[in-house]
This record gives sequence, structure tokens and C-alpha cells, in this order.
Amino acid sequence: MKLFLDTANIEEIREINRWGVLGGVTTNPSLVAKENDDPERVWKEILSEVEGPISLETTELEAEPMYQQGLDLAQMAPNAVVKVPMTPDGLTAGKRLVGEGIKINVTLVFSPAQAILAAEIGAYIVSPFLGRLDDVASDGMDALRKICDIYEIQGYDTLVLAASLRHPMHIVESALAGADIATMPFAVFKQLVKHPLTDAGLEKFLGDWKALREELEKGA
Ligand code: E4P
Repeated sequence: MKLFLDTANIEEIREINRWGVLGGVTTNPSLVAKENDDPERVWKEILSEVEGPISLETTELEAEPMYQQGLDLAQMAPNAVVKVPMTPDGLTAGKRLVGEGIKINVTLVFSPAQAILAAEIGAYIVSPFLGRLDDVASDGMDALRKICDIYEIQGYDTLVLAASLRHPMHIVESALAGADIATMPFAVFKQLVKHPLTDAGLEKFLGDWKALREELEKGA
């Protein structure tokens, strides 16, 4: 399972990219708006920073302008993936973009039925939002498991990207469900690496090492 960052903040992207595990980035209009900068500048910086797929979201609601906007976003860089919403217009625009050889990510997916539609238009990625389902007392992980099972049974090529992830167990469970990609905020990425036994173990190793050095220096 590839690990993506769900952010438009270049500093966060650079920090995680240094770990060597960053497979790509997902952005959405809210995340780009948080940067309070020209969106095109923000996107271009991300596109050149990370080699993997970078999702850039359309903001038009009707199929024709959404398609035109998708064409513009796609030509920004070879690793640009155009995000379209799971709406009838999003499907129409998305299918046309796929027909042009453009990779699309169908976003705001909350049910297996919607995920089937995304696969049927030939989407490169489908993004079920787990955390937002949990927020309304619905089981996000159950929806993800069903989507992964359906895609396996049907032989769909569309990649399943677990989105709206809120904590490390969401990532672990997504991997077990068979998701192809998990996208998460910077804070969750940082939680993945942390374990109190790692910290305690390192402290003990270094303490013992320092004590040995001091002993050897005394004897010298
Ligand atoms: C995915 O592409 C979305 O940007 C994202 O995961 C939404 O997450 P949220 O529910 O934390 O806003």
C-alpha cells in the first residue's frame, strides 16, 4: 500500500519526502485554500517536489467547464491526477477526461455503489472517505472493505485510495482491507513512526554506549 500525504503545505511534504516513503499527494480545495496563496503556484511547487501522483481537484460543478478545467489541470505536469467529484456531472466530465488519456481520481465517495460507478468510467483512483463516514455514525472501514472486495471480484483496475483517515489504526486497517493507497494528514503520518518502546529502547542503548565510552576513557 502506497502512503500519500493529504496536504497542500510544501514544508509538510518536504519533511515526509525526506523519509523516502512518500508515494504521492492528495489536495482538495479546502487544503489549497489553507495555504492562502495562488493555487497554481501551490500546485506547481508540489508537482515538482514529489515524483508520484498528485491529485488536483476541479471546482466547476457542470460537466463541460469541469472537463475544461480538468484538461488545464492535467497539462500542469505528467504526474498531475485530476480529481472530480462523485456527481453525475463529475462522471460525465471524468469519463471524457479518461477518454483523453488523463488520469482521474473520483473523490467524495461514500458507498460501494458510488465506487462501482467510478470504476466503470475507468477512473485511475477512487477515494472513499472513511473518517467522514465515521463522523456520521456509519462504518467507514466496512465501506472500504466492501469496495476492495468488489474490485477484486470484478477485476477492476481502479486503485482504491483510503481517504479522510484520522489515526494510525485507520492506515493499518486499510492495508489489511487491501487498499492500494492511504492518504493522511501530516500529523497522522508523524504518528505512524512513533512508538514509546522505540524511544525508551534508543535511550537505553545510547545510555549504555555512553557509559562504556566513559569507562574506556577512564582506563586510558
Ligand atoms: C482526500 O483526497 C481528501 O482530501 C481527504 O482525505 C479529506 O479528508 P478530511 O475528511 O480529513 O477532510
